[in-house]
Amino acid sequence: MISWPITEPVLVDKALMLRPWHLDDVNSVYEICQDPAIQEFTTVPVPYTREIADFWIRSSPQKYLERDKISLAGIRNGEIVLSVSIHGIHEFDHVGEIGYWVSPNARGEGLAALAVKMISDFGFAIGFRRLFAITLPDNLASQKSLINAGFELETVLRDRMTRRNGTQANAVVFAKFPDVKITD
Ligand SMILES: CC(C)(COP(=O)(O)OP(=O)(O)OC[C@H]1O[C@@H](n2cnc3c(N)ncnc32)[C@H](O)[C@@H]1OP(=O)(O)O)[C@@H](O)C(=O)NCCC(=O)NCCS
Repeated sequence: MISWPITEPVLVDKALMLRPWHLDDVNSVYEICQDPAIQEFTTVPVPYTREIADFWIRSSPQKYLERDKISLAGIRNGEIVLSVSIHGIHEFDHVGEIGYWVSPNARGEGLAALAVKMISDFGFAIGFRRLFAITLPDNLASQKSLINAGFELETVLRDRMTRRNGTQANAVVFAKFPDVKITD
């Protein structure tokens, strides 16, 4: 059983705050999601419009209520620097998938690893038993971020993902587990 808190969490580390999305975040999300690497390596819609950002942010609280997704904005010095989520949740199995992007002007500081660790710690604290992330083979910054956040390389799924250019690519899967396991 996952002990889903009634309200969306606010998670604080000395360098970073993860908080629920606000409606006035739309412009920042719209601008950040024009980044070619975000469009290449995540499943954001392309082209990414303000309307898409607006809908995504407005639907976030409802998705949390429906236990479908935990989606948080990463704030540093008052600015949005990243997005991190647990989505693709299978509550019966206590499993969720981690997704993230970092704003281009905040890259190179290890913020993805920090955010992934913060949301994973929260996920394990409320009852998740397996968190995983799927990366494209050439997304080395993402893979290193996951390792830095304590994830381990689990497997490579052959031809699991379609790239924006239509070609098929392997998926490199990383996973992390709680310290105290409930296993057979
Ligand atoms: C992937 C992403 C989230 C990483 O953001 P970040 O926190 O700024 O990452 P950093 O630049 O600090 O790099 C993290 C680690 O990867 C390493 N790294 C970065 N680029 C690398 C490369 N091309 N090859 C090998 N290692 C690389 C860094 O050295 C760092 O490791 P270290 O701290 O042990 O030295 C960011 O690049 C991004 O938003 N990309 C587009 C969206 C995306 O790919 N999301 C994830 C989808 S799975």
